[in-house]
Amino acid sequence: MTTPHEAAGFGAGSTATTPTLQVSDLHKSYGGNEVLKGVEFAIDKGQVKAVLGPSGSGKSTMLRLMALLEPADRGSIMLDGTRIGAATQNGKIVHHSERRLAVQRRDIGMVFQKFNLFPHLTALQNVVVGLTDVQGMHKTQARDVAFQMLTKVGLADRDGHFPSELSGGQQQRVAIARALVLNPQVMLFDEPTSALDPELVGEVLEVMENLAAAGMTMIVVTHEVRFARRAADEVTLFDSGVIVEQADPTSFFENPQHERTKRFLSHVH
Ligand SMILES: Nc1ncnc2c1ncn2[C@@H]1O[C@H](COP(=O)(O)OP(=O)(O)OP(=O)(O)O)[C@@H](O)[C@H]1O
Ligand SMILES: [Mg+2]
Repeated sequence: MTTPHEAAGFGAGSTATTPTLQVSDLHKSYGGNEVLKGVEFAIDKGQVKAVLGPSGSGKSTMLRLMALLEPADRGSIMLDGTRIGAATQNGKIVHHSERRLAVQRRDIGMVFQKFNLFPHLTALQNVVVGLTDVQGMHKTQARDVAFQMLTKVGLADRDGHFPSELSGGQQQRVAIARALVLNPQVMLFDEPTSALDPELVGEVLEVMENLAAAGMTMIVVTHEVRFARRAADEVTLFDSGVIVEQADPTSFFENPQHERTKRFLSHVH
């Protein structure tokens, strides 16, 4: 199957053995608080990984580092076999310039718990700005492309609405469209449905499941066990700054190997 990325010419040069995104020995501290303690993580093209874990364990921090929104203290992030974000010189990590980071960030889409839409822009304009300002696309073409993406997330009839005129589920779908329209190689989701009323969770999960089925590479931090079971290729338990367990959904939920995972699942179920 040809994924939208392949059709768009992305991923050229990648082989079956090169993960789309791979982090190694990732460390991050805030003050004296060591939040990430050597995270090892890899995701292959077209894979969907669900990440579960207790509050404060460092899940959001891990995603922010992967999205190059914050610098790592140590370790590396590889996108399609190329290191991004920083280089190592004489054993020390040297972060790339803000300008270079801005270019690298285009390949990584991120969706946050709180949609972060521009309140003074309509749904369509929220999707258009990335295309015009980041990609330099002409406004007329950008509007067409953005409208197609809004249609894909089921919001063709809401293009002229401002965020304050949209439900939480609709706002989150605009946020997903805004990230997708830039054609990222990988999409990171940080608890995308946690801020939603229960009856709005389904419409956002449906968009994400469609995306997964279309071959998007996705890392999804979530509490939604249903989503993890249905859409994920692999489920990960994250705790205290490290990955504790990774397995296919059936093994993870039915036959977890680690005591920590069993304890965590006993609270979730
Ligand atoms: N910018 C920051 N400055 C200082 N401490 C931070 C910062 N960001 C996160 N932390 C701390 O890092 C730890 C991990 O936070 P993080 O948000 O990554 O956890 P999380 O697993 O996403 O939790 P939750 O499930 O509640 O979203 C917490 O102790 C938090 O207080
Ligand atoms: Mg978080």
